[in-house]
This record gives sequence, C-alpha cells and structure tokens, in this order.
Amino acid sequence: MKPRILVTGGTGYIGSHTVVELQKAGYPVVIIDNLSNSNVKVLDGIERISGIRPDFVEADCTDIAAVRKLFNDYPGIKGIINFAASKAVGESMQKPLLYYRNNLNTLMNLLEVMGEKEVEGIVFSSSCTVYGEPDVNPVTEESPIKKATSPYGNTKQISEEIITDVINSGAPFKSILLRYFNPVGAHPSAEIGELPNGVPQNLVPYLTQAAMGIRKELSVFGDDYNTPDGSCIRDYIDVVDLAKAHVIAIERMLDNKSEEQIEVFNLGTGNGVSVLGLINAFEKATGVKVPHKIAPRRAGDIEKVWANPARANNVLGWVADTPIEETMRNAWAWQMKLRERGIM
Ligand code: NAD
Ligand code: WQD
Repeated sequence: MKPRILVTGGTGYIGSHTVVELQKAGYPVVIIDNLSNSNVKVLDGIERISGIRPDFVEADCTDIAAVRKLFNDYPGIKGIINFAASKAVGESMQKPLLYYRNNLNTLMNLLEVMGEKEVEGIVFSSSCTVYGEPDVNPVTEESPIKKATSPYGNTKQISEEIITDVINSGAPFKSILLRYFNPVGAHPSAEIGELPNGVPQNLVPYLTQAAMGIRKELSVFGDDYNTPDGSCIRDYIDVVDLAKAHVIAIERMLDNKSEEQIEVFNLGTGNGVSVLGLINAFEKATGVKVPHKIAPRRAGDIEKVWANPARANNVLGWVADTPIEETMRNAWAWQMKLRERGIM
C-alpha cells in the first residue's frame, strides 16, 4: 500500500489532473481546498475517470488549526503537493495583500505542520514567471531569476526562497520546485478541465470560448513582436503531461532518490509556439474556426519564453510529448462538455 498524499488545491485545474494520476499510480489522496476557485463537483469528474473518490476536506490552508486537524484525521501523509494559491496576475496588482497572504501563509503553514508530522517531501507549483523576459531562450533552471513584475510572480519567487531557507535550516524533509510553463488542455475524457471564472484572462480558455461563440472574437495581443509571425511565443504544456511529472517528483522524494534536498525542474515541452501558431493548431485539430483580430499589445507581456526541459527529461525521465493538436482537441472537447452541462 502506497502512502497517503495531501494535495492542496486538488479540486483546481492542475490539481484535479494530478489527483487522477496519483490514484492511477496507487496513491491514496486527500485533498484540501477552500473552493475559492473551483467546484466540489470536480470530485465527481475525478471519480468517473479513476473509479476512486478522493478524500476531501473543505478548508483553508491559511488556517493552521484546520491543517493540523486534517493531519490528525488522515494519518500517514508522507508527501504534499501544494497547488493551493491565488493565480490571477492582473488581480494580484489590484489586491497584493490577498496574494501575499494567501500564497505565502498557505506555504508557511504547510512547512510548519510538515515538520511536526514527519512528512518526507513537498512538491511546490512554481512558474516560468520567475524568469521574466529571458535574455536567452530556451531557459534552463540556471537562467537568471528576474525581478518579479507582479505580486503573484513575487509570491512564487518568495515561496522558492522560503522553502530553501527552511530546508537549509535543517528541516527534516525534501522539496521539489516545479517551474511550469503554460499549462493548457484538459483530460482526454473531458471529465475534468479548466473552469475559468468570468472573462478568461488566459489564451486557451478565451480561444475555446470564442470558437464556441461565447465571446465575439479572440484578441491577439500584438503582431509586432520580434518573432517570426509577430505574435508572442510561449511553451504550451499539456496538463496531463504536467500532472504526470508530479507523481514522478513525489515518488522520487519518498523513494529517497533526490540528489539534493531541494531540486528545481523546468516543466515545458521545449517548443515555442506563437499565439497565431496556436490558433492554427486549434483550427487544424478541430476543424473549427477561431474568430480573431489583431489587437494592441497587452501591458506586461513577455515577448518570448520557452523551456529547456533537459533536466526534467534526463533526471526525472519525464517528457511532455502530447502533440499540441491533441491538446487542442481535448481543450475543445472540454469546452463542449461545459456547454452540454449548461455551465458555459
Ligand atoms: P486553480 O485556481 O485552478 O487551482 C488552485 C486551487 O487552490 C483552487 O481549487 C482554489 O480553490 C484552491 N485554493 C486557493 N487558495 C486556497 C487556500 N488558501 N486554501 C485551500 N485551497 C485554496 O489554479 P491552477 O491553474 O490549477 O494552478 C495550481 C498551481 O499552479 C498554483 O499554485 C498556480 O500558481 C501554479 N501555476 C499555475 C499556472 C497556470 O498557468 N495555470 C502556471 C504556473 C504555475
Ligand atoms: C499567453 C499568450 C498573450 C489572451 C500567465 C502568467 C504566468 C503563468 C501562465 C502562472 C500571451 C496572448 C492571451 C488573449 C492573447 N501563470 N493572449 N489574447 O501571460 O504567458 O502567462 O499564465 O504562473 O505567470 O502570467 O499566459 O495565457 O495569459 O497568455 O493574445 O485573450 O497569449 O499575450 O502572449 P501568460 P496567457
């Protein structure tokens, strides 16, 4: 019997896909989520895919008493995957304290309780946002960390530092920091996916809503960048590929395979795709047109960033290899499922 894993933010977008992969690998899972950006019905979707309903505690990770209670109620937790965080870059500019409080207190509470409860390792959701606008692409884990351009981005940098300081102080556990590039797509079953709140800020949910006619047209933010077609370039990574990396990371720590007490990995495909390129891939994969227009640049956007995922490939034995067309088909199937269910 494999040990129990605590997944914070486990009813969220990346968390829910990771819970499915953990269950597939035989790990019993307990989720803590305050449902601030997700719906409890996600548990039904997880259960329909895996046949197992994960244990679920509706509570806030910033409430340390609730976190302690969870550890008492669910003994034997050996690993934590910490997804719980507020993640909207724009909102973080308006409400910085909410972001610092939520993201940092959540992490600090978990680190505190881990020490008390003999948890062996924590996987942390970091982001390519720590690299800012890189001088050179693709970025490796050694690329410089640039000054954060939003409170959200700053919480990721500070979180990495907090984990490093706590472990360097002699804490008896390990950590793996995973820097995600741009997670997109949905589970191929269309049972779980991304549930954007209100008008989507991210490209793929906006694109699928425009394709469905929920939005008039997608604005392509800028076609005058220094890139082959003038639109920005990102590294879009399939959410199921991303989820699988978390299982490998947890296993690595619990099986004592980590080479250092803290390890950092870029999680991306290694391929840069432009906004116009992604629209093309979607149309090719689904046969559905995306109404779009060229619009002014969005303030604060990075021109181009993509990963060098060699360390994750070689050390973790993990590769993000889902073709972008397949990812786009899954994103579309999920959008259609939301329509079918009358959600969107
Ligand atoms: P999400 O909003 O879908 O999931 C986060 C979940 O955490 C939600 O279910 C929310 O209700 C929950 N939550 C938030 N604060 C909480 C708290 N204090 N206590 C308990 N639950 C809480 O986001 P996601 O896209 O799945 O992102 C997961 C993690 O990955 C986040 O840490 C995010 O910053 C990071 N990340 C995301 C992206 C991306 O583009 N989606 C990229 C890089 C990093
Ligand atoms: C992707 C590209 C836009 C919407 C954000 C966070 C980052 C990380 C991932 C968490 C850009 C263009 C978008 C639209 C468009 N999250 N775009 N029209 O900005 O790369 O990163 O999510 O850590 O921290 O900043 O993702 O999906 O918003 O944009 O043209 O309506 O799509 O300009 O080039 P981004 P995104």
